[in-house]
Amino acid sequence: MSRLAVLIVAAGKGERTGLNLPKQYEKVAGKPMLRRTVEAFGSVGNRFIQVVIGPGQEALAAEALAGLDLPSPVRGGATRQESVRLGLEALAASFDENGAPDYVLIHDAARPFVSRQIIEAVTAALEAGARAALPMLAVADTLRRKEDARWSIVSRDGLFRAQTPQGFVFADILAAHRAHAATPVTDDMALAELADIRVVHVEGDERNFKLTTREDFSMANAILSAGETRTAMGYDAHRFTDGDHVWLCGIKVPHDHGLLGHSDADAGLHALTDAILGCIAAGDIGQHFPPTDERWKGASSDRFLAHAASLVADKGGVIVHCDVTLICERPKIGPHRQAMRARIAEILGLGIDRVSVKATTTEGMGYTGRREGLAAQAVATVRLAP
Ligand code: CTP
Ligand code: MG
Repeated sequence: MSRLAVLIVAAGKGERTGLNLPKQYEKVAGKPMLRRTVEAFGSVGNRFIQVVIGPGQEALAAEALAGLDLPSPVRGGATRQESVRLGLEALAASFDENGAPDYVLIHDAARPFVSRQIIEAVTAALEAGARAALPMLAVADTLRRKEDARWSIVSRDGLFRAQTPQGFVFADILAAHRAHAATPVTDDMALAELADIRVVHVEGDERNFKLTTREDFSMANAILSAGETRTAMGYDAHRFTDGDHVWLCGIKVPHDHGLLGHSDADAGLHALTDAILGCIAAGDIGQHFPPTDERWKGASSDRFLAHAASLVADKGGVIVHCDVTLICERPKIGPHRQAMRARIAEILGLGIDRVSVKATTTEGMGYTGRREGLAAQAVATVRLAP
């Protein structure tokens, strides 16, 4: 396994935003931008993430990064270039006993929308043998250059915009920064090129823009409030057997039969778990909790539902609403409906007004009508951060 470090530079002053705080500590949809950026990397595998902050920003950084398992931020310099070099030196020192990291991804704190695809593309290029990997995007607008009082058109043929994260063989980029500390450049790839390191290009991402102005913050807030909404369904059925109660939607309901199943046979929670897994295309309940696994024998199904909810949260998603329909002649659901809604709301951490439980019979028709078993279907809606 190669060792990969991520260096996130957050030591700037953010002067172009005209906002009160250095921009990396300003909130984007309620969360400091720096925290969003760090979490974007944290959610893509286990990585060593080193943050570089400006002098006097310790308290702001501590607040923005509270609760995250990170090494202490190190102090940057007067320019981005200097901040990166100081960060690389800190990485070299902190890895001392075990040797330096093999690769480093260097990223601007001001790009909180960095995607899993970009992180993986840059990493994959390094692991495939590239010594430097640069995400780039073609230029779409017509470009003009002002020369004295005249504007001339600049052909956009062959022009690209460089983004971060830029990926490097750690020893290469540390050496390049040390050797060219006195040559001012605007990104790390420029130093790699000065050091004659061949660069591999990967596809950038329009969303991975650098928040520079106040308008960029408005746009970022708009993107996050939009999000992406997904709806999915789930279905489950269990056969009646001997017993004196059934579990439905997390509630123990007295009945003249029980339900047959490997776990507690709570068809309501099983259908809902599948609906939530469906929203994030994360397979189905049987895949996560195989019925062949002894651990789930007799298990109470609230843990299946809580697991599905945690997978949504891991993706930065929020469950917006869920709706369960129980299909049976008996037991009567009405008297338990409120308790079922409350229990589901509790497991999912949702307001009860976002949880619906309904019931119907099938008028004596089919297996539920013959009282051989009962069925449940569920629909869930999830909003995913873009
Ligand atoms: N950066 C840094 N150290 C500096 C200057 C910049 O670590 N001395 C970081 C910024 O925090 C940012 C990234 O480099 O994450 C890109 O820089 P930029 O967008 O220019 O941010 P600022 O320099 O903070 O903004 P401005 O130029 O508007 O003052
Ligand atoms: Mg700057």
